[in-house]
Amino acid sequence: MARKLMHAVQYNGYGGGVAGLKHVEVPVPAPKKGEILIKTEAASINPFDWKVQKGQLRPIFPRRFPYIPGTDLAGEVIEVGPGVQHFKPGDKVVSMVNPFNGGGLAEFAITKEWVTAARPLEVSAAEGAGLGVAGLTAHQAIAQSAGIKLDGTGPPANILITAASGGVGQYAVQLAKLGNTHVTATCGARNIDLVKSLGANEVIDYKTPDGAALKSPSGRKYDAVIHCVTGIPWSVFEPNLSDNGKVIDITPSLGAIMTFALKKITFSKKQLVPLTLFPKRENYDYLINLVKEGKLKTIIDSKHSLSKAEDAWAKSIDGHATGKIIVEP
Ligand SMILES: NC(=O)c1ccc[n+]([C@@H]2O[C@H](COP(=O)([O-])OP(=O)(O)OC[C@H]3O[C@@H](n4cnc5c(N)ncnc54)[C@H](OP(=O)(O)O)[C@@H]3O)[C@@H](O)[C@H]2O)c1
Repeated sequence: MARKLMHAVQYNGYGGGVAGLKHVEVPVPAPKKGEILIKTEAASINPFDWKVQKGQLRPIFPRRFPYIPGTDLAGEVIEVGPGVQHFKPGDKVVSMVNPFNGGGLAEFAITKEWVTAARPLEVSAAEGAGLGVAGLTAHQAIAQSAGIKLDGTGPPANILITAASGGVGQYAVQLAKLGNTHVTATCGARNIDLVKSLGANEVIDYKTPDGAALKSPSGRKYDAVIHCVTGIPWSVFEPNLSDNGKVIDITPSLGAIMTFALKKITFSKKQLVPLTLFPKRENYDYLINLVKEGKLKTIIDSKHSLSKAEDAWAKSIDGHATGKIIVEP
């Protein structure tokens, strides 16, 4: 590894938004046991990244300041630490950095082997970088929490996906349609055609009364809701759920956690299930393979250079991205 210093974006404390981001030259990190040093070709921004900066996830994240944000990336393996078995220098990969330590918005990043997947030539760095948090969360929600068989062999299910134009929602629609499902989706009016093109059977504008009420235009009751926005109370979901319907909430508020507990202790058939992502390499491999086969795509909202990472940051905080926001060194 010839380079000693690298360009990175970091912040030194909670708050500050875009103005809190600083461009710095820091030492290129060295991989320890089970770790891989990756030359970043593309990284993607998630709401998680700026929520950490805002202090919304304290005291868990970050472990210390200064902190280089960003978890999802795609790039080339430069060096591997002791014990790494599946990768060697020159391999193209996608990976996620440990969010406790951060490190994604930099020219080089350290990741663990267990959360790294090989990236075939057919999958561009930007497409691959989008898959981490958003793709794996969508996969966990659909395949695990909602129990949809992605080979299409399961019983029919009606699924609602909120914010289907967002980073998670776009993947959730496409993955749900691999199963035996009817998908209703919500998004803003400008993205209705896009979300239909991803496979949704019916799409409702969340700013209309029916959209706000989450009503299926065909009158369906949902067996599962993949819920990707905040601020919708249980009382809105409840009348739209089938008898055993579940709301899988990827942004659970305190109120949602209380609803979850209440539904559990009253043995309600309708359930609210808070979701926290637990990344697994086998799921990463599965998603990468779908992209390679042309069965899953990453909708890219915008691409930004690392030197203008502030624009990507502001775009994500704004909350109106269509698909993934990509940063390229
Ligand atoms: N639990 C976990 O482990 C986990 C994992 C991943 C993500 N998350 C969380 O999940 C949330 C979604 O993440 P993301 O990456 O998908 O966010 P995102 O890409 O920033 O979502 C932006 C999209 O949401 C749409 N939207 C906003 N409000 C809406 C509403 N009320 N109804 C329908 N669509 C709406 C926007 O459409 P318009 O532009 O038309 O408004 C925009 O296209 C975030 O809060 C994130 O932190 C949690």
